[in-house]
Amino acid sequence: MTLLEVNDLAVEFTTAEGIVQAVKGIDFAVARGQTLGIVGESGSGKSVTSLAVMGLHRGAKVTGSVRFEGTELIGAPDETVRRLRGRRMAMVFQDALTALHPYFTIGDQIAEAHREHHGSSRKESWARAVEVLGDVGIPEPARRAGEYPHQFSGGMRQRAMIALALSCEPDLIIADEPTTALDVTVQAQVLDLLMRLKDERGLGIIVITHDLGVIARVADEVLVMYGGAAVEQAGAERLFTAPRHPYTRGLLESLPRLDAADGEPLHAIPGNPPSLLAPPAGCVFHPRCPVYAAADTGQRELCTAARPPLRLLADGHRNACVRSEETT
Ligand SMILES: Nc1ncnc2c1ncn2[C@@H]1O[C@H](COP(=O)(O)OP(=O)(O)O)[C@@H](O)[C@H]1O
Ligand SMILES: [Mg+2]
Repeated sequence: MTLLEVNDLAVEFTTAEGIVQAVKGIDFAVARGQTLGIVGESGSGKSVTSLAVMGLHRGAKVTGSVRFEGTELIGAPDETVRRLRGRRMAMVFQDALTALHPYFTIGDQIAEAHREHHGSSRKESWARAVEVLGDVGIPEPARRAGEYPHQFSGGMRQRAMIALALSCEPDLIIADEPTTALDVTVQAQVLDLLMRLKDERGLGIIVITHDLGVIARVADEVLVMYGGAAVEQAGAERLFTAPRHPYTRGLLESLPRLDAADGEPLHAIPGNPPSLLAPPAGCVFHPRCPVYAAADTGQRELCTAARPPLRLLADGHRNACVRSEETT
């Protein structure tokens, strides 16, 4: 059975300035042993999506369906969601320094989480903390468990946070920008660690990032978000070899490449992501879209009249550009 199945998920915030449609009806699924990558620029709704899956949105209107091994979480009693969140799904955030408590040792924090979820004794939970710290590649885990977060380097702290997530033996890990704060080499090590754990333990993993380079390294399936909506969805290989949406193509063109000819410029997507308080009509991307810009004035209505739905192409590839045939 699919571990996590999300259908038509939408999240709306009511603010003093008006209603913010942060996520507008997205669908995805994650199986055991599989990594879903969610990618998009800052403000595209990635974190709001992950918090909605974890049932962590207070005061937001969350609609649609989030099923964990068949159990519906949207509208479920708080207790059901809390139990799953502790035992079955865990999150890893970008900033380990804020996620970990500065006044308690790393070992204490992991041991306490383990005690809370498994009702284990102090001795058992400490042993388990040392074990998971070893599992995530922390050298001398018995000694390092007695240290405080500030005594760990950025990469080691990120490993410790993954250990904290693992201590409750989850089936699903959602990692939101897990390596954004790290140097490139350490980034690669932390991503490789997540992939190793996925394979060894058959975890389902969602990696959320603004960086297509991270997606290329880890994802099996990819969801590209823009302005709170999915604009393209495909297997990673297809997405990288045959991207369809102009936004995805723009992201790919702005990736640094080792094989680029000398002096070949990097392309940045012009302009900024939209405000979700007052998003552009029609396709949210059209104000920044080269295909829209190149279209005859008489043809532009195709992009501005209505928000294009995500359409199914071959091989489960989905694309929300109404001009996808023209853009191939
Ligand atoms: N609590 C909130 N109240 C109002 N708007 C919010 C709230 N949380 C997030 N948003 C808005 O939702 C949009 C998506 O945010 P987010 O999911 O954090 O983006 P990102 O893709 O960078 O993770 C942003 O425009 C943000 O301002
Ligand atoms: Mg975010």
